[in-house]
Amino acid sequence: MKQTPYYFYDLDLLHDTLNCLKSKIKGTDFKVHYAVKANNNGEILSTISRQGLGADCVSGGEIKWALDAGFAPEEIVFAGVGKTDEEIIYALENEVGMIHCESLQEIVVIDELAKERNTFAKIALRLNPNVNPLTHEKISTGLKENKFGLTSLEFEELIHLYPILNNVQIVGMHFHIGSQIHDMSVFVELCDRINELVPMFEEHIGPFQYLNVGGGLGIDYYEPNENPIPEFGSYFEVFKTCLDLPAGVPVHFELGRSIVGQCGSLHTKVLYIKKSEEKNFAVLDAGMTELLRPALYNAYHKMELLDAVTSEEMLYYDIVGPICESSDCFGKDILLPELKRGDIIAIQSCGAYAESMSLNYNGRDKVPSYMHSSKNLVPQEC
Ligand code: LLP
Repeated sequence: MKQTPYYFYDLDLLHDTLNCLKSKIKGTDFKVHYAVKANNNGEILSTISRQGLGADCVSGGEIKWALDAGFAPEEIVFAGVGKTDEEIIYALENEVGMIHCESLQEIVVIDELAKERNTFAKIALRLNPNVNPLTHEKISTGLKENKFGLTSLEFEELIHLYPILNNVQIVGMHFHIGSQIHDMSVFVELCDRINELVPMFEEHIGPFQYLNVGGGLGIDYYEPNENPIPEFGSYFEVFKTCLDLPAGVPVHFELGRSIVGQCGSLHTKVLYIKKSEEKNFAVLDAGMTELLRPALYNAYHKMELLDAVTSEEMLYYDIVGPICESSDCFGKDILLPELKRGDIIAIQSCGAYAESMSLNYNGRDKVPSYMHSSKNLVPQEC
C-alpha cells in the first residue's frame, strides 16, 4: 500500500487526450503550446514534449523545466506581466521563440537587454481585448480591470517609440481572456475583436505575422469519467471559422487545463470520522496544500471512494483537510458511501493546477506522484 497522499497520473489518458487534440488541428496552421503552469511534473512535461507540442512559460524557472524536458527553444513562448531582467536575459540567451510583452516599459527593457547582448528579440504584444470570459472572476484575465496586457494608452505611445527600438521586432499579438471556459460564444467574441485589431496593427506597427490566442478551454469537473477528453473539436472550429487573418499567419494556442486536467487525481486517506448533531466530517490526510483550488476559488472536484464499499448506507460528509484554516475544505454535504478510518478517496480532475500550486504551509512535505500507463507503474522523484 502506497503512502498517502499522492498524485496519480494516467498517462494513457494523457496520450489519448494529446492524440485527440492533434487530430483536430491536423492540416491547419494551428500550433499548440502546453501551458507549463498547469502541471510541471517532469514526466508529464516530457510526455507532452515527445508529442511535438511547444511550451508556454511564465518564468525563467518554467523555461528551464521546459528545456530540460526536451522542448525546443524556438517552440517556447515566454509570457508574464512581471518578467525580471534576469528572466529576460535567460530567455534571450536560450533563444526562446517568442516573448509576449505586457507593458511599454517591458518592451523598452527587452530592447536594452537585447542591445547589450548584440542580439535581437522577436516579440508579440499582449493586448487586453476586454472580453468577458464568463468564468470565475479569479481566473478571468482579459477584462479591462485585469492587470494583463498593454493598455490602449501604452499602445499609442509604443507607436511613436517603436521606430527607435532597434533590437526588438514586433511580429504579432497575444491574447488570453481566462480559464475554464465552456461557452464557445466567448471565443467568437474574441475572434471578432482580433479581426478588428489586425488592420490597426498593420497600419501602425508592421506586417502581421503571428497570433497567439491563449488557452482557456474548460474541462468537466462534474462528470470526469463520462467526459475525460474536452471539446477540442468545437474549440478549434470557432477559430477556424471566425478568424479573418492575412494568408499564412499561424495561430498559436496555449492550452494547459484541457490537456492535463483529467489525467490526474489526488489519492488521500480518511484519517478520522467525526460526527456532530448537524453533520459528519471526514478528515483527510490531504489538504489545501496539495489541492488549493477549492479553498481559493470554491472549486468543485468530484470525489470517489477507491476501496470496496463496505456499507450500503450513503451519508453526507463535509470533506476536510488537516490544515489549520477553515477554508481547507474539499466539499460540503458530499454524498458518499459510509466512510471509515483508512478509506482511500480519489479526488478527481487534479491533473491541472493541483501539484503545480502545492504549498508547504503548515510544514507539509511535497507529496510524491505516480504514473500509470498500460505498460508499467513508475514512482516519480519529487
Ligand atoms: N496562457 C496564459 C497567458 C495564461 O494566463 C493561462 C492561464 C494559460 C495560457 C493556460 O490556460 P488554461 O488552458 O489552463 O485555461 N489556477 C487557476 C487557473 C489559472 C489560469 C491562469 N492562466 C485554476 O486552478 O483554475
